[in-house]
Amino acid sequence: MARKALIAANWKMYKTPVEAKAFVDAFLPLVAGHTRDEIALFPSPVLLPSVIFAAKGSNVAIGAQNIHFAEEGAYTGETSVGQLIAIGGTHTLIGHSERRQYFAETDEIVNKKLHTALKHKIVPIVCIGEVLAEREAGKTAEVLIMQINGAFAGITAEAAAPIVIAYEPVWAIGTGKTATPEMAADAHKIIRAEVAKLLGAPVAAAMRILYGGSVKPDNATSLLSQEEIDGALVGGASLKPDSFTAIVKY
Ligand code: 13P
Repeated sequence: MARKALIAANWKMYKTPVEAKAFVDAFLPLVAGHTRDEIALFPSPVLLPSVIFAAKGSNVAIGAQNIHFAEEGAYTGETSVGQLIAIGGTHTLIGHSERRQYFAETDEIVNKKLHTALKHKIVPIVCIGEVLAEREAGKTAEVLIMQINGAFAGITAEAAAPIVIAYEPVWAIGTGKTATPEMAADAHKIIRAEVAKLLGAPVAAAMRILYGGSVKPDNATSLLSQEEIDGALVGGASLKPDSFTAIVKY
């Protein structure tokens, strides 16, 4: 089954509103008419309104790096899915390893956020991946299977269609060390097999699994030409219009 690739930019905690607007103004003409892949940008919350406004009507979708699982409430510093929708956001990352590592996000929280995103028709990109010690201990498959089961608890096959998974080995994030295309494809196969077990083969076959972790213009083609890799979640190399464009056009 043909899966349309999604090339996504995770800007993390970078850029001012002026810098974000300059990126969008430079980037949109570079990817105008590019229909082979879906493109999405994930800026910080404070940048979302201006980036959404600047990208309006283009082929570039905009999403949040994080949402809260509650509809609203006394959660200082958090963003609700309703707030995201109200300003025109359509996607969200969930469970990025930096959220897990620095903000104590557990599989249970990831699961709650996934339910909330699906309920409100926000496209969720669920991030999973092993840390170096887990890979070295031969536990990669075990960790991925555990994370998938945790994230997908209570998710039905009927509801699962919008879900995108991002496999981001933590040891490859921001380190310049990339999983080889074969390593990434192997992990993606494990993930897809587990999704098939939980939600059935058709859902698994249609689900996009992105790779993230030091994706750069010079390794994008070898990674993205793997049949198992359905796109990329890009950090550092997504901060400049020319390098992100080179990845989009791999
Ligand atoms: P880098 O591309 O900077 O390694 O970041 C990957 C990432 O964490 C994307 O979510």
